[in-house]
Amino acid sequence: MKEKTISGQNPSQTQPASSDIQSKAPNSSTAVARRSFIKGLGVVGATLLPGAALLKAQSSSSGKLSKGDADLLRFALWAELVESDLWTQYNELGGATAPNDGPANPGNPPYIAALQNLDGDMPQYITDNNDDELSHAAFLDAYLRAHGAESVNLDPFRILQGSTATGVDKTKIGKRLTNLLSLNVNLNWYTTYRSGQNPDLGAIINGPFTISNQPAIPLNDNDTPPTVVVPTPPIPSTSAVQRIQAIANTAGFHFAFIEQGGTSLYPTLALKATSEEVLRILLSIGGVEIDHFSLWHDKAGNAVSQPLAGVTDPETKSTFPDLNDPATLAQLHLQLELTQTNKIQPEPCAFLQTQGLPACSIIRPTSTQLGGAVATVKSFAADGLFTGLPDAFFNLSMQLATAADNVKRR
Ligand SMILES: [Fe+2]
Ligand SMILES: [Fe+2]
Repeated sequence: MKEKTISGQNPSQTQPASSDIQSKAPNSSTAVARRSFIKGLGVVGATLLPGAALLKAQSSSSGKLSKGDADLLRFALWAELVESDLWTQYNELGGATAPNDGPANPGNPPYIAALQNLDGDMPQYITDNNDDELSHAAFLDAYLRAHGAESVNLDPFRILQGSTATGVDKTKIGKRLTNLLSLNVNLNWYTTYRSGQNPDLGAIINGPFTISNQPAIPLNDNDTPPTVVVPTPPIPSTSAVQRIQAIANTAGFHFAFIEQGGTSLYPTLALKATSEEVLRILLSIGGVEIDHFSLWHDKAGNAVSQPLAGVTDPETKSTFPDLNDPATLAQLHLQLELTQTNKIQPEPCAFLQTQGLPACSIIRPTSTQLGGAVATVKSFAADGLFTGLPDAFFNLSMQLATAADNVKRR
């Protein structure tokens, strides 16, 4: 069986990095034709796969994989490769330093302490989330290959500098796929899940505050010295402590942002699956994304409730307001109903457009337009995750996403 990998062109052969990759429209005219991507792609032989892994995948799978189902799984793999890269960075700096089920992590002491101000278990949760993403990517890659379908290889785009702070894997400096050093974290999901309205039915629901140009990991040891001692809250006004706490708070919200993206993406993909086994894969992995989102939604709330609320980044001026305080909410023109930090369970909302049906507690959005593959690429790009990558990465991503969004269930 021949196995194939869809990969990007060598970045050295592509145009220089676009400074505003996120502003690109998902117009099919901007997508480079499929053949041009396949040209020069890496073809990986079956012998390169661990024999046991390949046999296991083959024995648990039967039947042919339709083109549509392969398109769905390829985009899911794209998303998991992106998630794996960013979670690996979070894990190096903020994960469990001595996990029970993985290699020891050096970690970044002030970052870990600041994360633990959100919840003492944050490092273990980060490590476990990372393990989950790596397993999702490895499984989807193996499944596609076991069925003779093209896989996805994003390795040519692992070119970003990344953090150089204490704790990073020095062998990976300059080899990152995702940027976590300056993010614009969309918080619309926070308000959406507290609202009785549904974006799939046209509701426009803005987040409670903004996080702009914020690092979500320490940049380097000059910006956040590893010797800084981060106390438990309330956090002193010391610039060095406010800075690292704001970075950890950003991470807390970014974790939830990423996982709610997966929470919406997987149902939109599942709705298009034809094979029962592919449907099972999408629902089973998608359920774990929901599990992650729910956890991080809860932890992020601790950054905007007492005793931690009120941190301001001295560099970017981003502030994490108290979203339970009536006076703060009045100043921000917010209603407690849409901000209360412990309201993390989805509020029932309008669902199907059929008249007369009551509100229902659901995952949203799940429309292709708002929660699908193209929407995911655009949302991750707007987040800043791909800042610094060449246009070829965006084009490949949009090609995979458009193919997935166009799949029709048979
Ligand atoms: Fe995942
Ligand atoms: Fe995830």
